[in-house]
Amino acid sequence: MKTYFIKTFGCQMNELDSDLISGILLKRGLKQAKDIFLADLVIINTCSVRELAEVKAIDLIHRVLKKKVYIGVVGCMVNARDENLIKKFPKVNFFIGTKNFSKLDEILDNLKKNEQIVKKDNFEKKYLEEVDYFIAKRKSKIKAFVSIIRGCDNFCTYCIVPYTRGPQVSKDLNSIVDECKKLTDLGYKEITLLGQNVNSYGLDIKDNKTSFVHLLEKLNNIKDLQRIRFLTSHPKDISKELVYAIRDLDKVCNFLHFPMQAGSNRILKKMNRKYLIEEYLEKIDFIKAEIPGVTLGTDIIVGFPTETEDDFNETIKCFEKVKYLSAFIFAYSPRPKTVAAKHFIDDVPKEIKLKRLQTLLDLYKNILNKEYQSDIGKVFDVLVEKKSKRNKFLKGFSKNFKKIVFEGDDNFIGKTQKIKIKNCHNQTLIGEIF
Ligand code: 5AD
Ligand code: SF4
Repeated sequence: MKTYFIKTFGCQMNELDSDLISGILLKRGLKQAKDIFLADLVIINTCSVRELAEVKAIDLIHRVLKKKVYIGVVGCMVNARDENLIKKFPKVNFFIGTKNFSKLDEILDNLKKNEQIVKKDNFEKKYLEEVDYFIAKRKSKIKAFVSIIRGCDNFCTYCIVPYTRGPQVSKDLNSIVDECKKLTDLGYKEITLLGQNVNSYGLDIKDNKTSFVHLLEKLNNIKDLQRIRFLTSHPKDISKELVYAIRDLDKVCNFLHFPMQAGSNRILKKMNRKYLIEEYLEKIDFIKAEIPGVTLGTDIIVGFPTETEDDFNETIKCFEKVKYLSAFIFAYSPRPKTVAAKHFIDDVPKEIKLKRLQTLLDLYKNILNKEYQSDIGKVFDVLVEKKSKRNKFLKGFSKNFKKIVFEGDDNFIGKTQKIKIKNCHNQTLIGEIF
């Protein structure tokens, strides 16, 4: 076995897990193949959050199996699908859940062509401490994901995550600070803290000093670090203290992913989101009033069981009011093990789900166009990441997460540059050096 290829489905946490797997494989002396069908070992890192991601992964597993190479299936589906998945694919060489990547070396040492190794998770309340996150092979040299909390205890009725990633467990604060310092020493400029609910960080550690705000304060003191971002936040845990920290800590970026999911209180209750829409909007008003230039992101589900046209109109009303700059909009699909799949009928017809999805997408596009037009003439600090695909423009983001391109040479990469906006195209601002 000389080469490997990892195909990743799903969220940033999965991307980071894949980078970690990549690091483990490189350390074993394997090399990354350019194409999935040219590799000796293929690892498929799966996502179960929506049905479509699972369908795509299953299709890919079938196609890779035809090639008769070594294949490992890892991640959320392994925990979500119980024995069914394993029985369905007896020729897959190994399965690993979301918390057992430290076993990868041992699995590869013991791999035999016709045997299957399965390492599912037992979900004990333990972080993945035994893995050295520092070996992760990150794609960017400028910005890095750092995981700070795994799992979720919220049990939104539609969501499979508590069953794929287990209970919420925070990573030790000092080891996070240490990892961020080491990454900064390597030249990384921006850290994005990852977790299903980052702002619940520390709530499971009963020492009265581990909190998300405290972590942000510590990271803000890392000398050469320029920017701190985090994803994703549960509205119920956004405190005034956190809003003040975002406002006052100079490295913490003024972008907040703050998923509303739905605008109707009846639907939010059925989703077990634990907030009223009035409370959510009050928090939004407070955030907008306190944090200059803040932009907001959201996730929305349309077509949740029993969602009426009136319920959907509430979502539209809130979406228009908040004016999200980043929105992931999904049509509801029932997920195994969840309360919604077990107890609610998936009664909104597919055509209506798709129509509502399109209505929101159109609204989102309109909001973006207006917002980006209004940025013409403004000056933003851009952390320059790389040359864009056509190699003409440099690409980076403002602190409040607007994508900005400008002409310049490679010396700007990794630096923060003031850029004056001249024009915009779709969701990209085009500017020049100020
Ligand atoms: N159907 C559709 N979307 C879902 N999400 C989670 N579960 C489902 C589901 N069953 C969406 C939510 C969540 C995002 C990661 O995926 O909006 O915030
Ligand atoms: Fe899923 Fe809700 Fe947990 Fe987010 S907070 S991961 S939507 S259960």
